[in-house]
Amino acid sequence: MAKTRKKSSAKKTNRRPARAKHPRASRRRRARKSTPAWIWIGLAGVVAVAFLLLSQGSRSDPILPATGETYAQGKAVYDSTCAACHGANGEGGVGAILNGSPESHSWHHLDAQLIRIVKEGIPGSEMPPHAEHLTDEEIIAVLSYIKTWWSDEQLAMQRTGQHPMGP
Ligand code: HEC
Repeated sequence: MAKTRKKSSAKKTNRRPARAKHPRASRRRRARKSTPAWIWIGLAGVVAVAFLLLSQGSRSDPILPATGETYAQGKAVYDSTCAACHGANGEGGVGAILNGSPESHSWHHLDAQLIRIVKEGIPGSEMPPHAEHLTDEEIIAVLSYIKTWWSDEQLAMQRTGQHPMGP
């Protein structure tokens, strides 16, 4: 009896730690090796999604009709930089009509196109590029000011590009 007890207890003490340790240890080792990869893949995913959301967010942020300080800033930019060609109230002149009258075209452009027109001008026309002497903030402000002349319907159509005559 003493012998079998010893044997069985010896077996037990030999086997149990062996069974218990090895699978856990190897699982841990595997886990330790693969965890950094998952962390990097996860982080890359999070960064990519955040980047996409941020860039889409800023791209689709509509330029709203100006109020308050933006209105004052936009009007100042317009009066000093655009009014000579586009008229004091956007009624047009050398430049296109910007005041949202039905025959005008400015509200057919999406925000990104309006920004590009102001920055780069319209090649082959008298519309000059303004990228070098207006900041992005000033360009947004002046477009925001121009939008105060547009009706809610025009604003809604401009935002989605869904106006009857196409872009
Ligand atoms: C030297 C004259 C001149 C100045 C200054 C000028 N523009 Fe223009 N702009 C034009 C002309 C001319 C056109 C029409 C070009 C064409 O389509 O042939 C035009 C077109 C545009 C259009 C497109 C309108 C449409 O119906 O498609 C926008 C928007 C615009 N200008 C905004 C501005 C803003 C904002 C400023 C001031 C930051 C400005 N322009 C300054 C002459 C000018």
